[in-house]
Amino acid sequence: MTIDYAEKIPNNVNLANDRTLQRALEHWQPHFLQWWHEMGPSDFAQADVYLRTATSVDAQGWAQYGAVKMPDYRWGIFLADAVADRRIHFGDNIGQPVWQQVPGEHRSTLRRLIVTQGDTEPASVEQQRLLGHSCPSLYDLRNLFQINVEEGRHLWAMVYLLHAYFGRDGREEAEELLARHSGDADKPRILTTFNEPISDWLSLYCFTYFTDRDGKYQLKSLAESAFDPLSRTCRFMLTEEAHHMFVGETGIGRVVKRTLEVMKQLGTDDPARIRAHGAVDLPLLQKYLNFWCSSSLDLFGSEISSNAAANFAAGLKGRPDESGYEDHVLRDKTLDLQTPQGVEHVPMLNALNEVMRDSYLKDCELGLRRWNRAIERAGHALRLRLPSAHFRRSIGAWVNQPVTPEGKLVSQEEYAKRIGEWLPTESDRAFVRSLMQKVVAPGKMAAWLAPPERGINNLPVEYDYVKLGSE
Ligand SMILES: [Fe+2]
Ligand SMILES: [Fe+2]
Repeated sequence: MTIDYAEKIPNNVNLANDRTLQRALEHWQPHFLQWWHEMGPSDFAQADVYLRTATSVDAQGWAQYGAVKMPDYRWGIFLADAVADRRIHFGDNIGQPVWQQVPGEHRSTLRRLIVTQGDTEPASVEQQRLLGHSCPSLYDLRNLFQINVEEGRHLWAMVYLLHAYFGRDGREEAEELLARHSGDADKPRILTTFNEPISDWLSLYCFTYFTDRDGKYQLKSLAESAFDPLSRTCRFMLTEEAHHMFVGETGIGRVVKRTLEVMKQLGTDDPARIRAHGAVDLPLLQKYLNFWCSSSLDLFGSEISSNAAANFAAGLKGRPDESGYEDHVLRDKTLDLQTPQGVEHVPMLNALNEVMRDSYLKDCELGLRRWNRAIERAGHALRLRLPSAHFRRSIGAWVNQPVTPEGKLVSQEEYAKRIGEWLPTESDRAFVRSLMQKVVAPGKMAAWLAPPERGINNLPVEYDYVKLGSE
């Protein structure tokens, strides 16, 4: 089904047939645009950006590319096609038909899941709003804005569900999604990672690598949901999400590539000399990986969680790629969980956050392998690593435990003394900020970053991806 762009709100959910819902969403639309204007990308409203816009939910050719001014982007509501006779395929209600309406007993839990997911979408736009001013290239600037408009669309996706299925409460939550702001002292975003400032592009690449990937795992688990509109919404969001992680993975890969060039040119791996040459030394990159990976790991919740058990049993939230597992009920399975007090045998249902975190970490490893291959080929012994899942946790069994990135429990004293070896210090951050000089000549790259291997949608890297006009 192709999407009707003549509508005020492009959609494939037959909005025109539900006047009440349509009116409610058209009432929210100017509030969204006002939010975009105030909290979205700072400046660049007049720039023509080479953006993709969803035009259908077909796996083949779902998007169209062209120059768009961001405030004119067609944010719409798109659900993946319904699966005929879809059945609940995990938990205690296996085999029953999926729900087209919200069951009363799950109403508040589903609303909370949708609001929590929805809150992250505008939050990330807010976190990234100043980055345009220090873009390392037009290609990167375009990618940033692509991510921003799509996170805006993901907000629309969640707001549609709130408006369509949760009545007045849902409409109130939709307003609140625009009222909370990332890092705000009084009304912060719900999850900590989404209140961390992203003030440089190294952080952006780490955020899109680690935190958008958390998004992928959350969406995958909600795509399994017995609440069918949520499942269909998330399935289509995943299509867009892939590009966000691509920006992270290739971004970090390009940092590594450039650093290796500088190391070769200077014939040294001395961080001070690499920095003096305007590149990011690999130990510094490692600190940024440690920061964003550990922060994103918290997003999966406590290792032992009765909520996770209840959500799974009820069919609200499955495991990512649920059909790849054999047992979909998990009533008589346990998991051996490492805690600071020793190994605990936990009912599998209660350990699902940990199961999810584990598959997420395996996915995170893939990029590291690629970056490390480049480092190895260049003849260097250093390897980038993911920090231990017990490092710098602020929730769960390992909260505030003095654990090194290698996973070793040390004294509080040693931890405090060495934390600057593991996480970016103030001077590290100041150095990274000093690299962030705006580069906007088509095809030119900042000195700390290698060019991408190819451009967007088969266009050359030198293409004028953002026509700045009178900015
Ligand atoms: Fe998103
Ligand atoms: Fe994303």
